[in-house]
Amino acid sequence: MYEIDIHLLENPYSIFIKKGLLNHIGDEIKKIYSNEKIAIITDKNVENLYGKNIIDSLKEKDFDVKLIVVEPGEQSKSIDTLKKVYEELLAFEITRGDLIIAFGGGVVGDLGGFAAATLLRGIPFIQIPTSLLAQIDSSVGGKVAINLDQGKNLVGNFYHPKAVFIDPDLLKTLHPRFFKDGMAEVIKYGCIKDSGLFEQLKKYPSKEALMKEIEQIIYKCCSIKKEAVEKDEKDLGERMLLNFGHTLGHAIEQYYQYKKYTHGEAVAIGMYHITQKSEAIGITKQGSSNLIKEILIQYGLSYSFPEMNKSENIEAIGLDKKNKGTHMNIVLLEEIGKSFIKKIQREEITQYL
Ligand code: GLY
Repeated sequence: MYEIDIHLLENPYSIFIKKGLLNHIGDEIKKIYSNEKIAIITDKNVENLYGKNIIDSLKEKDFDVKLIVVEPGEQSKSIDTLKKVYEELLAFEITRGDLIIAFGGGVVGDLGGFAAATLLRGIPFIQIPTSLLAQIDSSVGGKVAINLDQGKNLVGNFYHPKAVFIDPDLLKTLHPRFFKDGMAEVIKYGCIKDSGLFEQLKKYPSKEALMKEIEQIIYKCCSIKKEAVEKDEKDLGERMLLNFGHTLGHAIEQYYQYKKYTHGEAVAIGMYHITQKSEAIGITKQGSSNLIKEILIQYGLSYSFPEMNKSENIEAIGLDKKNKGTHMNIVLLEEIGKSFIKKIQREEITQYL
């Protein structure tokens, strides 16, 4: 089993990565939690596939388990769903000494984590991420949130889990489009911090070949994220490097109202496009954008910027909650594996569109 310890002054915790982990999750949780009550927050898809596995494993260890099931999809990161989750948790008579498990993809992780962070001023929680994106990114680092009509993740907090348990076998049932979605972020880690990972990703002739080494790949991604989170828990410096490709990516997602592109698909385009521009300006080593283009093609991801009105595009970027004021931060590559944050005047973003 791979283990990564996240050293944070107030909230240290570990990430455990192992194929088949879900089937003995009861044993693992018993090691770190001594009360009986556990509320599992999940969605209908994950419940259908793995609900019985997790419940059986926890009940075998005599835990008192309650399953709270929400609709799959982004619309569940809402105040209405959150209220229903609170009500079910209270009906279960959960206390601050009990445990919540967020068992699902990014939506369930963010919603379940936010419910845990806020109900009774905070109940301990554990993340068991089921999508590739959640396994390498959103389950680690403590960001929890719900959406408002005005935008995504506008109500949230940093609330770290007590542990993250990652079972890469769960990816076997992930829809191929969402596997690719996660691969875009795996490629991102290679681009920003690890040229070795980037080279490694280039060598796999098939998904099957990659899956043989998926534990180690997830380990590498989570280790990069660990470093960023340890240095900059609240996302004010180093952690922003994780947003490579995201400025343009968010604009694309938002422009198409989150319907046409998944997050990873939009980030893939954003990574290629901004690198093409920074290369043309002379900031990034020549040939880097081409390397990104080739790897995106290899993993079935698009690289071409969609038809978009540029001024609307800028407006979409302007609405990004992370980019307020006269200046904004963008993440650029020096070369593959080396990234930096560049503070620019807001108008300068046109150079990168
Ligand atoms: N997904 C970027 C972060 O957690 O900071």
